[in-house]
Parts: sequence; structure tokens; C-alpha cells
Amino acid sequence: MMEVNAQKQQVGEYAASLVHADMVVGLGTGSTVKYFVEALARRVQLERLPIRGVTTSKCTAELAQRLGMTIVDIDEVDQIDLTIDGADRVNRHLEGIKGGGAALLFEKIVARNSKRNIWIVDESKVCDVLGGFPLPVEVVQYGVEHLMQLFTGAQLQPVLRRASDQQPLVTDNGNYIIDLHVAQINQPAVLADWLANQVGVVEHGLFLDICDEVIVGGETMHILTAQ
Ligand code: 5RP
Repeated sequence: MMEVNAQKQQVGEYAASLVHADMVVGLGTGSTVKYFVEALARRVQLERLPIRGVTTSKCTAELAQRLGMTIVDIDEVDQIDLTIDGADRVNRHLEGIKGGGAALLFEKIVARNSKRNIWIVDESKVCDVLGGFPLPVEVVQYGVEHLMQLFTGAQLQPVLRRASDQQPLVTDNGNYIIDLHVAQINQPAVLADWLANQVGVVEHGLFLDICDEVIVGGETMHILTAQ
């Protein structure tokens, strides 16, 4: 089996070849996207490729700007032509769990305002049923313990995400992340609706009806389209 980082590099570099001149490109977040941004920045430099990027996190914005890419605010553009992002899990219907890097809110806003969304993943991310990876939920800080109790009561096994200093992790937007531990999410749309209706929830990491195509790395890199 091809090593995971080699797969991430493979799909990241391939995705960079899908970008055309004059596009507004959504730049996701994560270790796979890092390879994409690096490859795209090389094209920008070598080919003088005129593109503008819209970023989904401070981390990606810093990387892209350091590599000489033009970054614009999402509200400066009418629409984003193509967004390339990673995912933590994706099923055969192209439904996914995202937010392992705590950037789910901006990732979803950028995705919802994109004409086309492509995810780049190594083959370990593809599954039959979503689950097996914590489902992140971004919540406001105020009243977080009450949300934790609500999620516990709903059998969602919540864990407040912490930073390396053991303090609650604070997102780019000043919120907390609660990770839900659900072994199998058999009805993602039902859970997504329920989560979206809880006061204090800003956004959840279930990305449904968003992704158009998934590029999966491996010995035979392949593309998944919705079944
Ligand atoms: C960040 C994300 C990432 O896209 C996701 O966690 C995948 O990351 P990686 O490419 O590092 O495995 O959703 O919020």
C-alpha cells in the first residue's frame, strides 16, 4: 500500500492541475491541502497563472500568502469557481465528516459558495458508513457545559477538544469544538438537522450535498462521483 503522505502529495498535486487561469479558487485546510497549495503556488510562479484564492483558515491563508499567492476576502468575489479541500471521512454518496483541523465553519461557508467542490483524500478516508472518526461540532463558548450534557443525553459521547496546553481549543472564530463519538452515523441527514437546531451550535462537521467529486490517492489514484 502506498504510504499515506505520498497519497496526500499525489492527490494534492493532481488537484493543482485542475485549476485554470482567472479562476477564484477555494483553498481548504489540512495536511493534504498543504500539498495542493504548494503545488498550486508553484504553478502560479512558473506559469504566471492569474488566479485568486479564498482561504478557509488562518493557517491556509498564511501558507498561501507566504508562497506568493493572491488571497481575497470571500465577500470580494461573487462566487468561487472551484474549491479543493480535504476530508476526514467520505462515503460512497460523497457525504463527509470534516473539521478534524477545526476549520469546518469557514470550510462550509466557502464550499456553499463554490460552483464546484472537490475533496482530496488518501484511501483510508473512504468508508461505507460515516463514523469511526470524531464528528466535530463548533459551538459558542457560552453555556458549553449545558451543550455537553445535552449531547451526552443524546448518546453522542461528546468530548470538548483541547489544545496542547490542555485549555479548550479556540477556533479561528473564537468558538469551541465538541467532538462527538458515534461509531456509525446511519442517518447523516437526521443527525445534521438535529445538530443544526440546537441553540449554541454554530456549525457541525457533516458535509452533505456539498461534494461533487472525491480524488482518492493510492497505487491507482481514482475519482469517486456520487452514486
Ligand atoms: C480541517 C478539515 C480537513 O480537511 C480534514 O481534517 C482532513 O485533514 P488532513 O488532510 O490533514 O487529513 O476538515 O478542518
